[in-house]
Amino acid sequence: MKRVLLIGGSGQLGTAIRRRWHDCEITAPAHAEVDIRNGGELAGALARTRADVLVNAAAFHDVDRCESEPLTAFETNAIAVRGAARLARDARAVFVTLSTDYVFDGTAGAPYTETDAPHPLSVYGASKLAGEHLVEGLRGPAFVVRTCGVYGAGASASRRPPLVDRVLAGGAEPLRIVADVYASPTFAGHLADALRRLIDTSPYGLYHAVNTGPVS
Ligand SMILES: NC(=O)c1ccc[n+]([C@@H]2O[C@H](COP(=O)([O-])OP(=O)(O)OC[C@H]3O[C@@H](n4cnc5c(N)ncnc54)[C@H](OP(=O)(O)O)[C@@H]3O)[C@@H](O)[C@H]2O)c1
Repeated sequence: MKRVLLIGGSGQLGTAIRRRWHDCEITAPAHAEVDIRNGGELAGALARTRADVLVNAAAFHDVDRCESEPLTAFETNAIAVRGAARLARDARAVFVTLSTDYVFDGTAGAPYTETDAPHPLSVYGASKLAGEHLVEGLRGPAFVVRTCGVYGAGASASRRPPLVDRVLAGGAEPLRIVADVYASPTFAGHLADALRRLIDTSPYGLYHAVNTGPVS
């Protein structure tokens, strides 16, 4: 049975992984217990769990806050991700981290593939792309998985509620939502299943994983 250390276990993807990776022994410390930016806390958790796999499902991904807090964005989405990947490599654990469609500028007019050139337009996208490159540069056993519009159970205290929850909650004020963006919303459970299959495969590297079918 694989031993998995999961960071970000209370979020949407983290919750799905905890619920669906039945054949793994998962340890999912709370944010307050292990902050991805704290190398000491992460190293301690890796040593205690003797994890075969380190999954980073944590991120600073409130797009608006990333614009006003770029330092935190790069600390969490890039520098800390490199630190986690390096600790995993040194502990001979496979590293899995998530990235985003925001690394692209959206002008292609068609679904993006792994070989398309990224061109982020936001601090969030730039910080995630930096994280990708830093992980790649370590040449360790790492999967970087770009996904899009994740929805599912589980919530993060550190960002606003997912779009689906905001729509269902309604309220007195009209919701203002962009209408000219097309994306492939991805169910966290399906993403968790895809990641579970991925960690048994090779080669390591960059993958796109989304549900099929674009919506506006
Ligand atoms: N949601 C999307 O639409 C979407 C789209 C593309 C890519 N992604 C990527 O997919 C991944 C998972 O997204 P998600 O929607 O599951 O996220 P989420 O629901 O917001 O969950 C994030 C999790 O990370 C934890 N966390 C935040 N900052 C942390 C830190 N510094 N140290 C440790 N834990 C921290 C949160 O804990 P607290 O709540 O306690 O802070 C929460 O458990 C992220 O890498 C994200 O960038 C998401």
